[in-house]
Order: sequence, then structure tokens, then C-alpha cells
Amino acid sequence: MYDKVHLYHTRVIMFSRDFLWGAATAAPQIEGAYEIDERSPSIWDVAPLGKIKNNDNCHNACDHYHHYKEDIALMKKIGLKSYRFSISWSRIIPSENKINQKGIDFYRSLIQELKANNIEPLLTIYHWDLPLWVFNKGGWESEDIISLFVDYTKVLVDEFSDLVKYWIPMNEPQCFIMNGYMVGAHAPFKTNYLSLSKLTRNCLMAFHSSVETIRKYAKIKPLIGIAMAAGAFIPENESIEAINEARIKSFSKGSGLMSNAWWSDPLILGKSVRAYGIYKIAKKHLPKIKTELDFIGINNYSPFQKNWYGKDDSLSDDKKNSLGWVNDGRGLYWTIRFFSERYSLPILITENGMCDNDILTNDNRIHDDKRINYMKDYLSNLKRAIKEGYNIIGYQYWSLLDNFEWAEGYEPRFGLIYVDFKTQKRYLKDSAYYYKEVIESNGNNI
Ligand code: NOJ
Repeated sequence: MYDKVHLYHTRVIMFSRDFLWGAATAAPQIEGAYEIDERSPSIWDVAPLGKIKNNDNCHNACDHYHHYKEDIALMKKIGLKSYRFSISWSRIIPSENKINQKGIDFYRSLIQELKANNIEPLLTIYHWDLPLWVFNKGGWESEDIISLFVDYTKVLVDEFSDLVKYWIPMNEPQCFIMNGYMVGAHAPFKTNYLSLSKLTRNCLMAFHSSVETIRKYAKIKPLIGIAMAAGAFIPENESIEAINEARIKSFSKGSGLMSNAWWSDPLILGKSVRAYGIYKIAKKHLPKIKTELDFIGINNYSPFQKNWYGKDDSLSDDKKNSLGWVNDGRGLYWTIRFFSERYSLPILITENGMCDNDILTNDNRIHDDKRINYMKDYLSNLKRAIKEGYNIIGYQYWSLLDNFEWAEGYEPRFGLIYVDFKTQKRYLKDSAYYYKEVIESNGNNI
């Protein structure tokens, strides 16, 4: 009797049978084919020399545009149940009022091929590659972006919503607005600190209207979320006091304020946040920002420390990725917990992963034990959250393929699959085989 009760108990606390095990990518980071089939340039295609490490560019990337069938076959080999990808806006709408049938055909074939392999498509509408023509009309600085984003959304919904259920209209507004328009580290490389309130308003209103459009026109009932660059401080000894302090800090001061609360509070709670005495979203705009979501997507890499990615010189290299970001899976657990408590929404881990300078060895393998250990650490923290009852619907490893890491170029390799960028040959890393076992056992081996 005891055994039976015990077994029953173990079964209910495990990963659900339809848990969305997957991997994520984004169009500008993998597709290449930047001038093919009437696609027009995005702001990343025209990044000025000197802005991207080693003068790399995203023009060819992994040439996924021509390799997508091979890439889906590899997803199948790893056993992925889902795949998060983004659409290139300028492949679909290369100039104002022009819809590009060739772009639509490409994504329709991609989605059909995923479905034929029983891989659930999770569609990101916008992952930072603003069409140059939209930028020239004012981009995120102009309110016109709202109707342009709605028009773009409508095309995608008309064309793909018979096949796609999961919609993520935006990826990490923290990054494309703050890195792109304030810090100047990402395209369009602007440094206007004073425009944050306006940029945030335009961005969140565009998001809100995009969600309304999906809900209104989708052919199958959609599930909609956003992918946030989310993080948390770790309460070291897990005492009640330390947890309270970490919870408060994770939504105020420094990283916690600007990464979590500034974006998620107006969007999900309809409350505006005052930041540094200069930034605020006026109350009158909140009704056009607050949005009913089906889940919140969490992109999480490192716990908050003193700054965004907690770069900590006192830690040895084996505790950090090759960009210097601290590896600590407890950060994922606490992010899930604090986000669940504050926003009461199901959670999808839309990104989590580690970059390294992986090496292809003579046996044609990549022995990336460090990545496997990273995954074990983060996945066991994910499992802890599930055991404690937090509602988590899936996990997307970042990334499926080594790819174009924005201003860092091609050096940091995040993939489960190694890409030789000269030959476009792909090789499964050891971590891909590890992940395959995780998926096969539905997380029981973690
Ligand atoms: C966040 C972004 O969404 C993705 O594009 C990027 O490559 C990874 N994190 C790693 O930096």
C-alpha cells in the first residue's frame, strides 16, 4: 500500500506528458539568404563596420533557409517535441504594403515539415530584425510602428494560424529596446537614454494590439505569451528573510527593476513603474498595454548579481560561459518561483543555454561536458520547481544550432548542434545526445 501511494505521488510530480521539450532559434541568427527570394534588409543586415566582433555579419549565418529540412531531421534525431523559431519581417513584407509570397511559402513549408515530424511549432513574430524600411519610417520611436506591427501580425495569422497554436509576438523587449536604442550595443546602435518611456510604450502597445489581432483572427485557438529576458537574485541560504529580500530586489533596483518589473508589470498587471525618477508610463496608456496572456516566456541564463548578467571576476572560468556570464541553475528556479508568484501565469522556458568555444575533434564529435553539466544543473532546478507545483509547460534550449550571436558574431557557440560555418556541415554535440536521453525519459533521468 505504501509503495502504491508513493508511486502515485512520484508520477504526479513529474513532467507532464505533453511537456514542450524543445530548442529555440531566431531568423536573423540562422537563416542567412538575406537577399534571396525578394527579402529586403533588416537593421542587422546593414550594421556598420566595427559594430560586430571580427566584422562578422548575419548575411549567411547557418543558411538554414536552404538547410531547413536537414535541420528538422536533426531535431527529430534529438527527439524534440517542439521548436521555437522566429519569422523575418522583411522576408514577409519587404517594403510597405508589399506581401512576399515566396517568404510565406518558405515558412509554410517549414511549419508543415515540423508538423509532419510531430514537432510543435512555437512562432516568434519579432526577434529583433526590424526591416530597414520600418526603421526608416521611425521604427520603435514612432507610434506608426503599432499599426505596421498589426499589419504584419495579420499576414502571419492569415497564413499560418491553421497550423500554429503557440504565438510569441515579441522576444526580449529589454534587449531590442535598451541595447538597441539606449546602450547602443545592438542595431540600430542608438544611444538616446531619454526616450525609454516612449519606446517602451510603443513597444508594449504594439505587443498588445498584436495579441488582439491573433485572438480575433486565429483559425485554431491560440496560446499567446511573450519571451522576457527574466532573472532573479538567489537567496543564498534560503531563509525566509533571504527569500523575501531576493524577491523584493528581483523586481526593484538595478537589473531587477529594468529587466523584470519595468516591462512585465504594465503588460501583465496593468501597473506602471517609476524608474530612476525619469521613466514612467502614464496611466492613461495602461489600458492599451495591459494584456491577457496564456503564459509568460522566460529567457534565463544567469542569476542577477551586481549587474545584468552577473559578470563576476572572482569566479573561475568553469563557473561561467565563454562570454563571462555566471552559470548557476538556482537562478532559473528562483526566476520561475518569483514570476509565478507575481504574475500567476503558466511559464514556458523560452530560452536557456550556454555558449562555449566548442571544438570539433578528430572523431567528428564535440565533447561538450561543460554544457552537459550546465544543462544538468539548470534542468534539475527546473525539476525542483515542477515538483513544488509551479506550472511550467515547456523548456526550449538555446540554441538548436551554433549561430550569429549579434554583436558577438560567430565566436560564442550556444548550439546543441555544431555548425562549420565554412562548409555548413552540422554535427551533433554530446549535449544533443544527453538532451535526447532527457526527452526520451521525459525528464525522469534528471
Ligand atoms: C537572448 C536572445 O533572445 C537570443 O537571440 C540570444 O542569442 C541569446 N539570448 C544568447 O545571448
